Order: sequence, then C-alpha cells, then structure tokens
Amino acid sequence: MIQMSDRPEDNSGNSSANTIAIAGLSLALSYENAAVDRLERRLSESILPEVKEKIKHHLEQTKQQQERLKERIKTLGAGMKPTSEKGHLPIPQPPPKLKMIIESGSSDTEKEVWESVNDLIIERAEAIMYKAGIQALDLLKADKKTIKTLEKNLKEEQTFGDWLEKNNPRIAKILMTKQIQNKKQGKKKKKSHLKEEEQKVSATAA
Ligand SMILES: [Fe+2]
Repeated sequence: MIQMSDRPEDNSGNSSANTIAIAGLSLALSYENAAVDRLERRLSESILPEVKEKIKHHLEQTKQQQERLKERIKTLGAGMKPTSEKGHLPIPQPPPKLKMIIESGSSDTEKEVWESVNDLIIERAEAIMYKAGIQALDLLKADKKTIKTLEKNLKEEQTFGDWLEKNNPRIAKILMTKQIQNKKQGKKKKKSHLKEEEQKVSATAA
C-alpha cells in the first residue's frame, strides 16, 4: 500500500494525470466489452447448470462494471464518450497445427473443460489489470471515487476467479465422468441395436 508520504507532489488538476487515468479506464472498459461477448458465448455453450448460473451472474456483474467505468470516464473526461471498442482477451493461443488438432479432436465436453481453464485465466488477468490500475491511480492521486470503482470491479473478478479455481477440477471430473458413461451407454445401445438387426435378419431367413 502506498503511504501518503510516498505520494508524488499533488497532481490534482494535472491534465496529464487525468489523461492517463482516462486511458486506463478506457483500456479496462475495452476488456470488459470483450468479456461481455465471451461470457454470452460461454453462457450459451456451457453444459452444467451450476456453471451456467455462475457465468450468468458474472455476465450481469460485468455489465455493471462497464457502466461504472463509463460513468467515471464521462466524469473525468467532462462528458467524453466511453469506448465501445473491444480489447483482445489474454487467452493462450496454441500453435495453429496444435490448435487444429485440439479443436477437431475434442468433444463438446472436452472443449468445455478447455474453456473453463481460459475462463480462469481471463478472470485472473482482469484482476491483475485492476490491481495495477489501482496502484497507478493511487500514484497519480486520482479521485477516490475512481479508485473505489476499480476496487469494486477487482473484488468481483477475484470472487469469480476464486470460484473457478476452486471448482474447475471438480467440474472437469463431473464432465469427464459423464462423457465416459455416455460412451459406455452408446456402445451398449449399438450392441443391442445390432442384436435386434441380427434377429430380424435370421427371422426373415427362416
Ligand atoms: Fe470478469
């Protein structure tokens, strides 16, 4: 934590500090704009109701985060129009060939497990971004309300990130167990179907 004595000279009214604060808020907003798109897609793709519920809740939170950031940008930027641009979310990109193998060779269930890892990476990255932003705004002596806004957003990212970190392994286990069971049932169905067909054939032959 930065102490008052460590702070640089009073910057209030310093337009360059204000410009940096607006740039940082806009950057955060651009990531949240992209996060809304991704969470909407994840909500439609996710398989388990409990995951759907968590994603839905965080989608609502993210929309509120956007509004908080927009409000601060408008206030600091004297009516400035907040960005609607979308930043690039920090999802690891495998080499193209490997990506193709993973995408074409994975079932929907396996894809869900891959995506849950990306969900966690994104939430942790967002938390890192807000922490750095809070520290920067503290150094710039930005107004308390803007710092409080970032702290509120940070808390939500941390809470969802903590939930994902704690529950992802359990959810992956549920998903993979389901997949194995479905495969077994599929094989059984196939076998009994084959048997029926065999019986039909031998009945017509008799
Ligand atoms: Fe988030």
